[in-house]
Amino acid sequence: PSVQDLVGKRILITGGGTREPLDPVRFIGNRSSGKQAVALAERALRRGANVTFIGAHLEVAAPSGVTLQEVSTAAEMQDAVMRLRNSMDIVIMAAAVSDFRAEDVSENKLKKDVTSEHLHLTLVKNPDILVELVKTKPQSQIIMGFAAETGEPGKSVLELGQAKIARKGCDFLVLNQVGWDQGFGTERNVVTVLDSTGDILSEVSGSKLAVADKVLDTFA
Ligand code: C5P
Repeated sequence: PSVQDLVGKRILITGGGTREPLDPVRFIGNRSSGKQAVALAERALRRGANVTFIGAHLEVAAPSGVTLQEVSTAAEMQDAVMRLRNSMDIVIMAAAVSDFRAEDVSENKLKKDVTSEHLHLTLVKNPDILVELVKTKPQSQIIMGFAAETGEPGKSVLELGQAKIARKGCDFLVLNQVGWDQGFGTERNVVTVLDSTGDILSEVSGSKLAVADKVLDTFA
């Protein structure tokens, strides 16, 4: 029997990966499955929370018991988040939101130019929903971001996470090492929870359900 330590808490969780259309049949997307966010929703429900879930192209079903809103693009995710966020005690932005979208979405299917070996796409930046949430949040609301990092030359995943929470200004950041065969889409996860100063609060590896429980302990 798990503790009912989130009774009465209203939690908004986003999960999955947004898709940006190029034309009526193609999109730019990412490999987020939504499994970690769905696990968070399951455990939050179990612990007594009232959970609203915004899902983008989930590969697993959201738990029954959440209020579910499905979206596709980053713009739709932004609309849904901004509409639902006001009454929430906690917002967890676990979704992998596309950083860019196509500048022009073709009305008709793009045709290949048979004389060229290249196709050039122009992408424009999407608004950062997390940053917008933080800037305009109700006073007592707690906002948690996620960061999926692969590391980069000269910078550890931890350093990247610390820079990210400083830039985004959220209360907590769940740092997730991802790679070709790690993090996205898998059954297990390895995460580090950082506080707003970039200090490590907890480190946990295990099933996505076990990771979800440990992450939710942050709020308890
Ligand atoms: O900058 P990056 O995409 O790595 O940041 C990840 C965090 O920011 C996640 O919590 C994600 O949900 C959020 N995000 C967002 N809007 C974007 C891009 C990311 O809210 N356009």
